[in-house]
Amino acid sequence: MPLKAVLEGDDRQIMLKAIGSKVDILGSGKGEAYYYLVSDLLENDLVLKMKDFTQHGDTSCFQHCLNVSYYNYKICRFFSLNARAAARAGLLHDLFLYDWHTYKPDKGERLHGFTHAETALKNAKENFYISDLESDMIGKHMFPLNITALPRYRETLIITFVDKYCGLLETVIPRMKKVGKKFRRTEEVRRSA
Ligand SMILES: [Fe+2]
Ligand SMILES: [Fe+2]
Repeated sequence: MPLKAVLEGDDRQIMLKAIGSKVDILGSGKGEAYYYLVSDLLENDLVLKMKDFTQHGDTSCFQHCLNVSYYNYKICRFFSLNARAAARAGLLHDLFLYDWHTYKPDKGERLHGFTHAETALKNAKENFYISDLESDMIGKHMFPLNITALPRYRETLIITFVDKYCGLLETVIPRMKKVGKKFRRTEEVRRSA
């Protein structure tokens, strides 16, 4: 059943949000224009499969891709660049579909950080129509770690920054929340003593 249909059932409680954003992507209003560009991807089983794999800390690969996609879209739209490609490539940029924490490269194979962009691009091309621009964005999002994969478009350069920025948020925000929770609990105990 399509994701939207599931989420729009009688008991619709789930919201889809990018990290640090209040916009419900599945709701009407601010998230609608973005949702319209990626709805087919959000309802695709392969894309949803990314929920099974962890990217950073408590963040799934799906949520990470959604974060990158949403902010990539916002920034590219702000600069009048190709916001559609930004949203779609962002959602597919880490479509490698394995747990990279336990992944062991074969002999002679390079580490995950150097190979997963190519794997994601291959998976994306096998399952969706991918434009040249989207291909550049997915295949080169690990620049400058992958120094030979030089971005050809401004949108590609942007995704390299957005990807790292989201990775940072996904690592830092949950930790800050945990520290905040601990602090509040300590305060409550102190006040009630
Ligand atoms: Fe990546
Ligand atoms: Fe990523």
